[in-house]
Amino acid sequence: MLGVDVLDKHLEFARTRFTDFGERVRFENRSVYDLGLPGGAFDLTVCRHVIHSIPYPERVLAELIRVTRSGGRIHVIAEDYGMIHFEPRALDPDAFWREGPRAFGEATGTDLLVGRKVYGLFRRLDLLDVTVDYVVIDPVRVPRATFVSIWEAWRDGYARAVAEHTRFSEQEFLAHFDNMLATLRDPDGYGVWFVPIVSGRVP
Ligand SMILES: C[S@@+](CC[C@H](N)C(=O)[O-])C[C@H]1O[C@@H](n2cnc3c(N)ncnc32)[C@H](O)[C@@H]1O
Repeated sequence: MLGVDVLDKHLEFARTRFTDFGERVRFENRSVYDLGLPGGAFDLTVCRHVIHSIPYPERVLAELIRVTRSGGRIHVIAEDYGMIHFEPRALDPDAFWREGPRAFGEATGTDLLVGRKVYGLFRRLDLLDVTVDYVVIDPVRVPRATFVSIWEAWRDGYARAVAEHTRFSEQEFLAHFDNMLATLRDPDGYGVWFVPIVSGRVP
């Protein structure tokens, strides 16, 4: 089993987490645009939480298909920030989610709404048996503390970048995230994030 990323720090983190797998798994610095691996080398290729954050997702999918053997499968976890819904409180989270990801994507050459497009991309790349399933992250299925920790990491990690690339100031961004965090910390509060998992078979 092989895991790849382009940041050595992330690869080192993965290695420390998966020591139990011993020699069965290795982690290497390789780019998903050009893996530098032979064609048809893998039975199953998985790409998690990447294609929304980098340009040209269709090139990534073509490279994943290239390295997967005929009859093998591809799973892509593709985020889509239009699939996040929170009840309104002091602020209406839709006011941020409808505009923020589109503006950020346009400014950075990324597509933060790519999740809904992967089914069509897979079909046009001739993959077979294409399916779409969802990981549902909500307080009914996921511990509130886990959901909160994801939203805190986004709040703390993206405030400056969002302010740089969209009309939302750092303070407005933080206010929207603190508003959603108040919902998640309230035992009666509800929000949901649907994360598509698109799967297909290589002809
Ligand atoms: C949100 S993280 C997801 C990390 C990991 N795949 C997971 O599921 O936990 C996105 C990752 O994509 C990596 N990345 C960005 N561009 C890449 C590329 N061209 N090839 C491989 N990985 C890349 C980043 O370094 C970052 O670790």
